[in-house]
Amino acid sequence: MSGVVLEARCPAKINLWLRVLGRRRDGYHELATIFQAIDLWDDLRIEADSGLHLACDDPGLPVDRSNLVLAAAELLRSRHPGRQLGARLTLTKRIPVRAGLGGGSSDGAAALLLCRRFWDLPLSDAELADLAARLGADVPFFLAGGTARGTGRGDRIEPQPFAGEKPILLGLPPFGISTAEVFSRLGARLTLPRNGVSLPVLSAHKWPVENDFRSAVNDLEGVVFELRHELARFRDALLREGARSALLSGSGSAVYGVFADDRARDLVADRLRDRFQGWRLVGTRTVQGAAHVVTASE
Ligand code: C5P
Repeated sequence: MSGVVLEARCPAKINLWLRVLGRRRDGYHELATIFQAIDLWDDLRIEADSGLHLACDDPGLPVDRSNLVLAAAELLRSRHPGRQLGARLTLTKRIPVRAGLGGGSSDGAAALLLCRRFWDLPLSDAELADLAARLGADVPFFLAGGTARGTGRGDRIEPQPFAGEKPILLGLPPFGISTAEVFSRLGARLTLPRNGVSLPVLSAHKWPVENDFRSAVNDLEGVVFELRHELARFRDALLREGARSALLSGSGSAVYGVFADDRARDLVADRLRDRFQGWRLVGTRTVQGAAHVVTASE
């Protein structure tokens, strides 16, 4: 395969709806969530190498096995011990980290797709989805993309109807949040019921066409807003300025608003910029895409 270069694109996600149903015996939490891909992408490239290496343009990110890109490549390689599988992977980051936007998970899903193609591995999509769930709870969503319901740890994915591209304003504060810390603080407040599930699964199946983005809820907001009051202030400002809904994405730190049109979104961004110093406000939209391989060139 020498000389061949493949590239993949890796979308960010927001959670349109997120309920925590209880604590599980494996230490994770039982979730019901609606994932939505948005038009904000990392790029990943693969080319031939005798070893297995990762380079990244963000010097703050690890390039060892704690990066899901390398973890994904290692996982695939370990299943084919008889073959000499090497690659040089190069990651270009645009999705902010520790923001609840799933960037690292999306990169991991893209790495599975790229390595399968580059190494010509006989793996079905279902097998790849199983490997994705082993990498992290959010990884399987990025193989499906668009709008999808996630249950279990968030890793059991069922595609949902896409409600069309909606304008989104992302508020990115100048700090990130640790998902593990949020769940551990929340866990201290939850009792562990015998069946592992403490609330009924609400009507996620009606999302989003009937609910039209208005029934947004995220059970992680309580814990996160206590830690970082400015995130609640930003959510409230979005709603006051006319967002149709506004919510923390995942465990944060990103807070997003859904708007009726691009103009309304951009006007609100201009008004809020001065009041939220140090924040980055990014206009984007919901999209139907998933992590995917885009080019093959010699
Ligand atoms: O799967 P991932 O590594 O992204 O999850 C990060 C951390 O978030 C986990 O180690 C766990 O502490 C917490 N988590 C959880 N329940 C979930 C997903 C994540 O408790 N469903």
